[in-house]
Amino acid sequence: MTSQVRGAQLARLLGQWHSLPGRRRSPDYAALASAVRGLLADGRLPLGVRLPAERELAQALRISRTTVTAAYRQLRESGHLASRRGAGSWTMLPGTHRVTSSGLWTPLDDLDMIDLGVAALSAPPQLLSAARAATEDLPRYLGGAGYHPTGIVELREAVAEAYTARGLPTSADQIMVTSGTQHALDLVLRLALAPGASVLVESPTYPNALAALAARRARITTHGLALDGAGWDAELLLGSIRQGRPKLAYLIPDFQNPTGHLMPADLRERVVAAAHAAGTDLVVDESFVDLPLDATPVPPAVASFDRHSRVISIGGMSKPYWGGLRIGWVRASAPQVQRLAAARVGVDMSSPVLDQLVAVHLLAEAPAIVADRRAQLTAQRDALLGALATRLPDWRVCVPRGGVTLWAELDGPISSALARAAEEVGVRLAPGPRFGLDGTLERFLRLPFTLPAADLVEAVDRIAAVRYGLDRAARPQWREPAVIA
Ligand SMILES: Cc1ncc(COP(=O)(O)O)c(C=O)c1O
Repeated sequence: MTSQVRGAQLARLLGQWHSLPGRRRSPDYAALASAVRGLLADGRLPLGVRLPAERELAQALRISRTTVTAAYRQLRESGHLASRRGAGSWTMLPGTHRVTSSGLWTPLDDLDMIDLGVAALSAPPQLLSAARAATEDLPRYLGGAGYHPTGIVELREAVAEAYTARGLPTSADQIMVTSGTQHALDLVLRLALAPGASVLVESPTYPNALAALAARRARITTHGLALDGAGWDAELLLGSIRQGRPKLAYLIPDFQNPTGHLMPADLRERVVAAAHAAGTDLVVDESFVDLPLDATPVPPAVASFDRHSRVISIGGMSKPYWGGLRIGWVRASAPQVQRLAAARVGVDMSSPVLDQLVAVHLLAEAPAIVADRRAQLTAQRDALLGALATRLPDWRVCVPRGGVTLWAELDGPISSALARAAEEVGVRLAPGPRFGLDGTLERFLRLPFTLPAADLVEAVDRIAAVRYGLDRAARPQWREPAVIA
């Protein structure tokens, strides 16, 4: 699959490239090359895409072709561009060894460690009473074998009702209960994706989704999200679907992990139309849809624009309720659910009945539980933002209007080095490159606000202390991305 960036698209991504902060009196071609390198390092310009022809870019930027020629030459010399006469120029990173993530991102059991690597809340107080009530219900199921490949009917009904209440009429036979959202994604990929098929994902994105895609040997292309504004660049995203015709696109439109962005309604509609025209299946991860903050209105579900069963929605209990429940689901057409259930029999047969019953009781109390979670997350987010503004004022953040994470732009390409240093002082961090491919995103860090406010403030204090120490230590160059094994 060849993916290409057109002149106007690259010009928009480059923005005010000629007056970037820190630019001293460098010539235009060097500033342009440096801006392209910055886009690559931030993951906003994917690797392996064809850049516009020199003449086209010169026209789009209203500069001379000689300047573009010199910038491309510099990019070739620094190892950021590979060119073949007559065929064009492709983006790359210097000495690129393809860096893959192990995807392993588990909480530590070290209680002294402030773990900002995991973006999930502890259990709500209502969990215990829901578990007790579930054991009371259990006898109803004990007469059967306990295998329910699509899930127990009462949970499927409760999940379907929640979709219907969101404005997306759904019946229980369109729901399959899984053992978590990650399991849902893995099953969907098994069904929808032949090994080696092409998949479009956001950059940054959820690392364990990248791990699931790696397991299917997917050929991954990325759509780079901007730090601020809407996040998604509508024309580029639609262009990647139309030109690249990926087999599948995995998107997190509701308070995206890690950026917190919320995809606007009109783009949801256009993405569904483009996916249909390109023959692309859309897998929409709604993990955070129940967690808008600041009374932010959530646009209609992506699947509500779908007329052709192109959209498979996945979600689960982990973010609003508790990750330890391991309950998630797929919403798809009834025949797709049947195919998924058949595929699942070869994997894990079905999800635990008791946990599904706990989920039923929690969903029955959804309004109260979720309101408490939002209030808690709002207070914690604000404490984190306040600590960052005081202790690390050079970092840029876009205030997330929902979800559980914020995405900080650091004051240098130091994310991996900072994570290593922070570990020494008892703070575990998920550095930017974990959320992308090929070691890009070194200037970014994901910070979850799922821990109590006091822990978040303490963590920022410790991070700030080691951040300033990094300047004195030998600083790694961003052009040598940390290998993540
Ligand atoms: C976007 C996204 N998808 C899926 C998951 C996994 O969720 P679960 O615990 O339901 O498997 C997470 C957890 O962080 C997530 O952020």
